[in-house]
Amino acid sequence: MNVLILGSGGREHALAYQISKSNVLSKLFVAPGNAGTAQIAENIKISVNDFNAISEFVIQNNINIIVVGPEDPLVSGIVDFFRSKSEFNNLHIIGPDKLGAKLEGSKDFAKEFMFKYNIPTASYFCANSSNYKEAKNYLSKLNPPYVLKADGLAAGKGVLILNDYSEAIFELKNILDGKFGSAGNKVVIEEFLDGIECSAFALTDGESYVILPEAKDYKRIGENNTGLNTGGMGAVSPVPFYNKDFANKVEERIIKPTIAGIKQEKMNYCGFVFFGLMNVSGNPYVIEYNVRMGDPETEAVLPRIKSDFLEVLINAAEKTLKNVNLELATDSTATIILVSGGYPGSYEKNKKICGIDKVKDSIVFHSGTVINEDCLVSAGGRVLAISSYGKDIFEALEKSYCSAKKIHFENMYYRKDLGFDLK
Ligand code: AMP
Ligand code: GLY
Repeated sequence: MNVLILGSGGREHALAYQISKSNVLSKLFVAPGNAGTAQIAENIKISVNDFNAISEFVIQNNINIIVVGPEDPLVSGIVDFFRSKSEFNNLHIIGPDKLGAKLEGSKDFAKEFMFKYNIPTASYFCANSSNYKEAKNYLSKLNPPYVLKADGLAAGKGVLILNDYSEAIFELKNILDGKFGSAGNKVVIEEFLDGIECSAFALTDGESYVILPEAKDYKRIGENNTGLNTGGMGAVSPVPFYNKDFANKVEERIIKPTIAGIKQEKMNYCGFVFFGLMNVSGNPYVIEYNVRMGDPETEAVLPRIKSDFLEVLINAAEKTLKNVNLELATDSTATIILVSGGYPGSYEKNKKICGIDKVKDSIVFHSGTVINEDCLVSAGGRVLAISSYGKDIFEALEKSYCSAKKIHFENMYYRKDLGFDLK
C-alpha cells in the first residue's frame, strides 16, 4: 500500500508513526509534513488545499490511500473532488465528504443534526442578521455565562463565553457584523453546560464503527486552565472519570445515533468522528463534532493502539470495519506540548531545538518544526509533542515532564500542571 497523509502537525506525525509500523505499507508520503515526518516518510511540498496537485501526485506515485489530517480540505470537499473522477475509483480516502464535513464546518448544521437524532447537547438558538430581536430575547432568558459560537470555521477562535448580558449582546452584534468574517454570518447561542470536558473518537465506514481510546486535552495556555485558548497544550488517555458506565452512555446516547444519522443523511463518510463532550453530573453532552482526529489528542490516543493501524484504515475504506477488533495497549499515555514563547499570541520562529536525541523514555512528535541549513528549528506556535507510556496517566505525565527537561529552545514554554483536575 502506498499511503499519502495530508497535514503538517503533531497529529500527522503521530499518524505517520503508527502507519509506518504497518505490515502492509510499501511507501509513505506526507504533504507537506514537518521535520519529524521527514524521518519516517517522504515529505512532499504540496498544500493540503491544492486538490489538483494532490491528484497529480496520487497518479504519479500510485497512491492507494489518502489519510486527511486537518478539517480544511474536508470542508472544502476533497472527498467529493476525488469521488467525482472515475480514474480514482480505486483510491481510498479517510475523511467524510463535504456534507459529512458540515458536522464540523457549520455549528448550526451540527446542532440541527443532533436535535434531529436526539443526541444530548445544549439547547440553542441560531441568530442571523434578520432575527436579531428574537436572538436578544433568547439570550435574555438564559442564565449566564452566555455561549456564542460563530457558525463556520474560525481556527478555534469562534467561541466566546461571556458573563455579562450586555457584553453578550455587544459581541453577538460584533460577530454578525464580521468579527470572524463570513464564519459569523450565523451565530449559535447556547445554554452553558457546567461540567468537565473530555473527547471520544470513533472511526466509521458509514455503517459500523470502532471506538478509539478517549482522551482529555488541555486547551488553555495557563496553569489551572487559565488564560487564552490554544490549539491544545497536552492530552491524557484514558480519562479517569470515563468509567464503564459513562463509556456506555457515550456509545448508546451519542455514538450510535450519530453513526445512524450519518447513514440516514446519506453522508459519504469513511473517517474519524471526534466528539467533544461535557460530562454533566455523569451524563455526556456533545459540545462539538470534529470530522478528523484532534491535535494533541492523536499523539496520546494512537500510541495506545496495538492493531496494525493501516489495516484498520483500509477496513474503514472497504466498509468492513465490523470485522475489526481494536487491540489496545494496557498502558496509559500522556502528551505535553512544548510551545514557542508568546503563543497563542505572536511568537518568534526559527529557534534552534536541542536535546531531542537525549530523550529515551518518550516519543517526540514534531508539530511546528523544519530543517533550516541542517539545523532543526521551530516553525510554529506548537513545536513538539512529547508522549509517554505509564501504568497510569500520572506516571506517563511524569515521564513526559522528565523528557521535556532534556529539550531546549529559546523561550520554550509548557504547562507543568497537566492532570491536576484528574487526581
Ligand atoms: P467548541 O469550539 O464548540 O468546542 O467550543 C470551545 C470551548 O468552549 C469548548 O472546549 C468548551 O470549553 C467551551 N464550550 C463550548 N460550548 C459550551 C457550552 N455549551 N457550555 C459550556 N462550555 C462550552
Ligand atoms: N484539540 C482539539 C482539536 O483538535 O480540535
